Amino acid sequence: MGTPSVSVNLTEAELKLLQTLIYQECGMYFDERRAHFLQDRLQRRLKATALDSFYSYYRLLTSHEGKAELNSLLENLTVNETSFFRNKPQLDLFQKTVFEDLLHWKQERRDWNIRIWSAGCSTGQEPYTLAMMIADALAYYYLRNPLPFEMPFPKPLIPPPWKVEILASDINYSVLRAAQEGTYLEHHMDGVDYTARLRYFDKVGDKYAIKKSVKELVHFDFHNLKTEFLPQRNDIIFCRNVMIYFDEAEQKRLVDKFYRCLNPEGYLFVGHAESLFGLTDKFRMIHKDNGTAYQRLETNGQ
Ligand SMILES: C[S@@+](CC[C@H](N)C(=O)[O-])C[C@H]1O[C@@H](n2cnc3c(N)ncnc32)[C@H](O)[C@@H]1O
Repeated sequence: MGTPSVSVNLTEAELKLLQTLIYQECGMYFDERRAHFLQDRLQRRLKATALDSFYSYYRLLTSHEGKAELNSLLENLTVNETSFFRNKPQLDLFQKTVFEDLLHWKQERRDWNIRIWSAGCSTGQEPYTLAMMIADALAYYYLRNPLPFEMPFPKPLIPPPWKVEILASDINYSVLRAAQEGTYLEHHMDGVDYTARLRYFDKVGDKYAIKKSVKELVHFDFHNLKTEFLPQRNDIIFCRNVMIYFDEAEQKRLVDKFYRCLNPEGYLFVGHAESLFGLTDKFRMIHKDNGTAYQRLETNGQ
């Protein structure tokens, strides 16, 4: 016998309670316009937990034993839409200008470590795109700036002495698992041209699997952007299409945290519908050929 389905219409007070709880937990803000969505997801979770009222469910969410259910609810509320090579003009700015400048800057200082963070990575297309673009960019840079280090055989994706680490994080364990697996169906591959398919993917049945050498550059981890303990010392942060679900106060807090998570003069990339305008004056905007990035400003006392 299936679980009886419960139909719950949230009162204004109940909606407020749930909104506040979600906001406190992960920063996502569900205003009246998204109340329907919230209601729909609540309905699904009531069915899954076989609870029959808002208050019994709310009590579970706020109890110690309810931690797993809270995670499931949050997973049901996140929007995980993503794609390979999303916002190409911005990625071109990243590859051809920002990353190239970073390599020169680092080489001058004989600092060979590069650390990039994809915050809110969903099913992995963003960090894997970055890994592919970085591998191409470094190979081309190396061609023009060879270094007196022995090249191992077979030639690695990242030429020595450079070391690249891409940290990819999300609040949703299901998408992190899919990202870690790194296999994609044909319809996920729209933005991937044939050169990249040949160089960076293996065909396994009807799926495309990210090659091991690319996977090794990316490290997946759980991080909730609402918390204060976030990965430090990044040269570049990508946080695209995540802040859009936060309210202005939370966006300001997050941008401030990103400032602290970046190395001096590090770069922040946000989604094409997002901007740092009105949120901070600690970054300078770089805009080129329809791509936008933000660079951390260094001021005395920071
Ligand atoms: C629309 S996807 C964007 C994926 C990718 N950055 C892109 O632009 O294609 C937003 C992702 O942000 C994650 N997210 C939402 N709130 C978060 C939070 N508080 N902490 C970490 N990740 C969060 C979601 O789980 C989701 O996978």
